[in-house]
Amino acid sequence: MARILIIYSTTDGHTREICNRLREIIEQQAHQVTLVPVGEVADADLERHDRIVVGASIRYGKHRPAVVEFIERNAEVLNRRASAFFSVNVVARKPAKNQPHTNPYVRKLLQKVSWRPTQVAVFAGKIDYPRYGVLDRMVIRGIMWLTGGPTDPKAVVEFTDWRQVEAFGGVIAKM
Ligand SMILES: Cc1cc2nc3c(=O)[nH]c(=O)nc-3n(C[C@H](O)[C@H](O)[C@H](O)COP(=O)(O)O)c2cc1C
Repeated sequence: MARILIIYSTTDGHTREICNRLREIIEQQAHQVTLVPVGEVADADLERHDRIVVGASIRYGKHRPAVVEFIERNAEVLNRRASAFFSVNVVARKPAKNQPHTNPYVRKLLQKVSWRPTQVAVFAGKIDYPRYGVLDRMVIRGIMWLTGGPTDPKAVVEFTDWRQVEAFGGVIAKM
């Protein structure tokens, strides 16, 4: 049995949902999973776990600064453990951008930090227009119009491939 820490950054909750699914899959393999938002993780938590997973969504082209800061501050301990990173963004709904090495946000993050995760994944996220404020809705609709995505202001579209998420849970359980 391994103790696995999943640290996440979410704005609208979708990355947390992905983490919950990962947790279910990993716990089925008799490992112990702790889920914690990036703002609440303590250094001691890292020491207490055998494997560390970081999952973060993209907003306006970036992972939240708290995520990058956390990774940079803890790169050394992360590199000493089996570890995984995943990014959640809607660009990953495009087949040409749905792999860690083809997704611009994953590439940029891994170029920036000295952490070398054992496993990396990218998942397509969710569009939830009714949930967004007026300005965000307008901007995201504009981007979707430009990139061939949904523009109906009432649309809620989940692009996530849950089988891919489950498969990644299996990878974390074994890494
Ligand atoms: C205000 C806003 C800005 C976003 N910017 C981007 C972006 O620049 N690139 C992208 O691929 N996805 C972008 N997204 C899509 C989110 O990454 C996607 O909705 C994801 O599922 C959000 O996950 P979360 O609920 O865990 O934060 C944006 C979403 C919102 C609401």
